[in-house]
Amino acid sequence: MEYKFPDGFLWGSATSAHQVEGGNFNDWTEWEHANSERLAAEAARRHAKTHMRIPDYILERYPNPLQPENYISGKACDHYNRYEQDFDIAKSLGQNAHRFSIEWSRIEPEEGKFSEAEIEHYRKVILALRQRGLEPFVTLWHWTNPTWFAKRSGWLNKDSPKYFERYVNKITLSLEDVKVNFWITLNEPEVYVGASYFSGQWPPQKSSLISGIKVYQNLIKAHQLVYKKIHQISGNSLVGTAKNNSFYEPFSDYLLDRLVVRLNHYLRNEWFLNKIKNYQDFIGLNYYFHDRVKFSLTLKSPGGIFVRNKNKNESINNLGWEIYPEGIYRVLKDLKKYDKPIYITENGLADANDEKRAKFIKEHLRWVHKVIQEGVDVRGYLYWSLLDNFEWDKGFWPRFGLVEVDYKTTERRIRSSAYEYAKICKNNALEI
Ligand code: BGC
Repeated sequence: MEYKFPDGFLWGSATSAHQVEGGNFNDWTEWEHANSERLAAEAARRHAKTHMRIPDYILERYPNPLQPENYISGKACDHYNRYEQDFDIAKSLGQNAHRFSIEWSRIEPEEGKFSEAEIEHYRKVILALRQRGLEPFVTLWHWTNPTWFAKRSGWLNKDSPKYFERYVNKITLSLEDVKVNFWITLNEPEVYVGASYFSGQWPPQKSSLISGIKVYQNLIKAHQLVYKKIHQISGNSLVGTAKNNSFYEPFSDYLLDRLVVRLNHYLRNEWFLNKIKNYQDFIGLNYYFHDRVKFSLTLKSPGGIFVRNKNKNESINNLGWEIYPEGIYRVLKDLKKYDKPIYITENGLADANDEKRAKFIKEHLRWVHKVIQEGVDVRGYLYWSLLDNFEWDKGFWPRFGLVEVDYKTTERRIRSSAYEYAKICKNNALEI
């Protein structure tokens, strides 16, 4: 059976600066150095509990998740120097779009001082994509901040939206000649707020509801400001965000279970999108999670607020995340109400042995195709990620790439699932 996608559908993959470039210096870099030993020790403690053992084949790979070096981004994939080779691979895989992010700390390493050399670097990156027929989706902020900004309380500072606007103004003016069609202002603001200001897991490790709300409000304001700014500078560009939406369903018909579904759906899926609904030309969707939830009295539970996760986990990835392709359909159906074109800006899995990736992609695309048939305007799919990369506080061991990276030599090896995905990209159709 062949499932044809609409003409002009965009096919590609995504990365973010800090996760692939190497050689960055930002608030995460500082945090990694201060926390790598702790993260390795915590991993070792979890590993010692037999039911949480990390499989041997993962421990045997480099870097080992039980060692501190796994938690330091360092030279990462050296994508900063090897982007042309990486884009050659994307092109050879039949892709016609690519999402990457500009690293704010490179562009503005000191407050108000911009690096023309780094702007030039990203101009070359955009041109390299265009030369290969890959449509650039340019993310302006994918969680990392310049150290000067972090020292000024980062996104808690009431002036933070203005600082962000100054950087975006500079970058969009400077890159006006290369005509970026798709700007993504912020990556997953709610995930950042949750992990950095609510659960206190990521830098700056705050654990305060009030701070979290302030940061969220500043991110909303920042988005609104730069939406207007980008349109003033380059009227034809399309501006959106990359929003992580999960499919929540109640564990039972019990009223409290249904209420926590509503609450989490509203707070985590809808709130930000409602606030920016007059300031977006498209919706970028990052889909990873399905949560079958039961009410719990714990405010800070993983997967949601007042939530005990009751997923069946019939199939999981290397991080233990449930694979639930139907969820992408449910989430997309729900986004129809915003009446904007939708691009899937991330969807992927950690799968070191490449056992489940091809099936994962095909099953998700089968549901994407169905939702398009039912009238939802989905215009592209960007797999996360082109390359194995630095998975934040988990370091290098989770392997999300279509392309495997040997972190010792930075050599690339295309995984077999990448060729399966390439067939879909080249035919603009899924065959199953
Ligand atoms: C983020 C990526 C991350 C991926 C897998 C997304 O939430 O945008 O940076 O690597 O999920 O965890």
